[in-house]
Amino acid sequence: MQKLREEIGEVLAPLVEMETDQVLGLLEIPPEPEFGDLAFPCFTLAKTLKKPPPVIAKELSEKLSGQTGRLWDKTEPRGPYLNFYIAPKAYSHEVLKKAWEEQDQYGHSDQGNGQNVTIDYSSPNIAKPFGVGHIRSTVIGHSLYLIYRALGYNSIGINHLGDWGTQFGKLIVAFNRWGEEDKLKDDPVEYLYRLYVQFHQEVEADPALDDEARSWFKKLESGEKEAVSYWEHFRQLSLDAYASIYSRLGIEFEYYHGESHYNQMLERVINMVQEQQIARESEGALIIDLEPYNLPPVMLRKKDGATLYITRDLAAAIYRKETFDFARSLYVVGAEQTLHFQQLFKVLELLGFNWASQCVHVPFGMIRFKEGRMSTRAGKIILLEEVLDRAVAMARDIIEEKNPDLADKESAAEAVGLGAVRFGDLSNDRVKNIEFDWEKVLDFSGETAAYIQYAHARICSIIRKAEPGLMDWNDEAAGCLQKEEEITLVKTLARLPDKVIDSAESFKPSILARYLIDVAREFNRFYHNCPVLSSEPEIQQARLLLINATRQVLANGLALLGITAPEEM
Ligand code: ARG
Repeated sequence: MQKLREEIGEVLAPLVEMETDQVLGLLEIPPEPEFGDLAFPCFTLAKTLKKPPPVIAKELSEKLSGQTGRLWDKTEPRGPYLNFYIAPKAYSHEVLKKAWEEQDQYGHSDQGNGQNVTIDYSSPNIAKPFGVGHIRSTVIGHSLYLIYRALGYNSIGINHLGDWGTQFGKLIVAFNRWGEEDKLKDDPVEYLYRLYVQFHQEVEADPALDDEARSWFKKLESGEKEAVSYWEHFRQLSLDAYASIYSRLGIEFEYYHGESHYNQMLERVINMVQEQQIARESEGALIIDLEPYNLPPVMLRKKDGATLYITRDLAAAIYRKETFDFARSLYVVGAEQTLHFQQLFKVLELLGFNWASQCVHVPFGMIRFKEGRMSTRAGKIILLEEVLDRAVAMARDIIEEKNPDLADKESAAEAVGLGAVRFGDLSNDRVKNIEFDWEKVLDFSGETAAYIQYAHARICSIIRKAEPGLMDWNDEAAGCLQKEEEITLVKTLARLPDKVIDSAESFKPSILARYLIDVAREFNRFYHNCPVLSSEPEIQQARLLLINATRQVLANGLALLGITAPEEM
């Protein structure tokens, strides 16, 4: 696609008296395939030439009549657009060759030039449930992490753990009174949450508990040994538990810099704010008014001296810029925190940090798990691990039924189950609320990971049966495709690099996810109409190269969503 663009850019630039880059910036993909493969809109020219765009399109087309390029062979004016049509054979050759040569790098690029991008994601709170919001943050954040890395950025994953705050005072009280070490070790994430809930129940009858909790948190803040060792213990056990879930999902973070990491930097933030004179004292509290920006005020310090979530986020943002000099800093956090991030970025701006504009909140809506099959141990909370287990168990049943002879059912079930959970989330526009329907996300013929994985496995099985000699690169074969289904599939495959870029630019892995559905669908249509192994040797070889490129696109695309593509399922 890029080569085609460049070729067209070079032909048009002298004709329209623009720089090639400017022409490239204007080229668009037409909404319907009948309108060609790339379109040059004539609106910009209309202003300078003072002629209606359709007239210009027509004139350009006349100037180009009879001319062809290497990768395009026809132009046609249509309304205000000049449409270019690809030369099917040369174009397929080009696309297949690129996929063949680049293999697992196809769709990747080095446009990021090694610049740092920090991605704050997952970020659960210790002693509070790893909720569905955290599942979404984990899945979307990890995919963005992979996508940015594929574009040549240096992705830096940061787990901004909620590991500080008054809840630790409460936990220490609760654990002292009712806690059991064995139970804590057994399932720390759930157990700490239970202690936390129990604390809130008991405090109703015994308000003195609250004072006790406050005094423990004070001790913690002033670094008293006993309090700190409780805190470390709770934190470490929780971290270990999270780590096992993350490793099952193939996720690693560069840093587990939780909120506590910034404790030493808070004073500096407070000083900065005071130096810049953007804050005021109000009844002992420190406040920044954001009224001129139509935002509610921010409290940086309460009257008892305690700092807040946003104080730590300010410190974290500054720390990240100073430490990593990021080109972009992403926060993958639910839409309910939109206001928080607007305030955060505004305060950074008021502090004079022009890099505030490089900070982006990547919000998402809620998931609701359809009732019925999902029962949870701890009442209202949904545990990520249970969701994953449930999905894998269902995938196992389906695979058992569809392919009882499969050798490694377990790893296929794991891939399909985890893929279903991830794709169920990623394939929806992230800002929408979604309903997670177990039957739907595992439907092999629906818009699911399984549908894509199945197309991939099917191709692998055809390739296994092919004569090895036919699986080599062959220029002639690669240039002989011409059936409509073949060419449509080629054109779809050519879009992967653009789709990866679009996903990164709009922070939407869903763009890539939807695209992969299209690829699988176009493959199925092709395969339905064009036999592979039973066709003539040259056609067979061409089609093998085509499905091999398809396999590569599916695998590479899924990998960027954090989903594996089994060769058999
Ligand atoms: N722990 C927070 C929560 O669960 C999310 C943290 C997001 N990251 C941040 N830098 N604020 O609500």
